[in-house]
Amino acid sequence: MYVCLCKSVTDHEIRRMVHQRGLTTMRELRDELGVSTQCGRCAGCAKDVLKEALAECQACAADASFAAAA
Ligand code: FES
Repeated sequence: MYVCLCKSVTDHEIRRMVHQRGLTTMRELRDELGVSTQCGRCAGCAKDVLKEALAECQACAADASFAAAA
């Protein structure tokens, strides 16, 4: 789904930036994708997607460390 209509940024792109590029903050999302740099209406939704993606990363890291220890 589109999160930021002004910059045509999707939730998939935000998740990819978090998982592959290691972004962790709204400032980084703003700098990299332009999210929330025009009308600003996407800020809340972008923050929610960022939080979800970071939680997914932590879950993946926990799974990886569990698998490595096994
Ligand atoms: Fe993201 Fe307008 S919808 S800046």
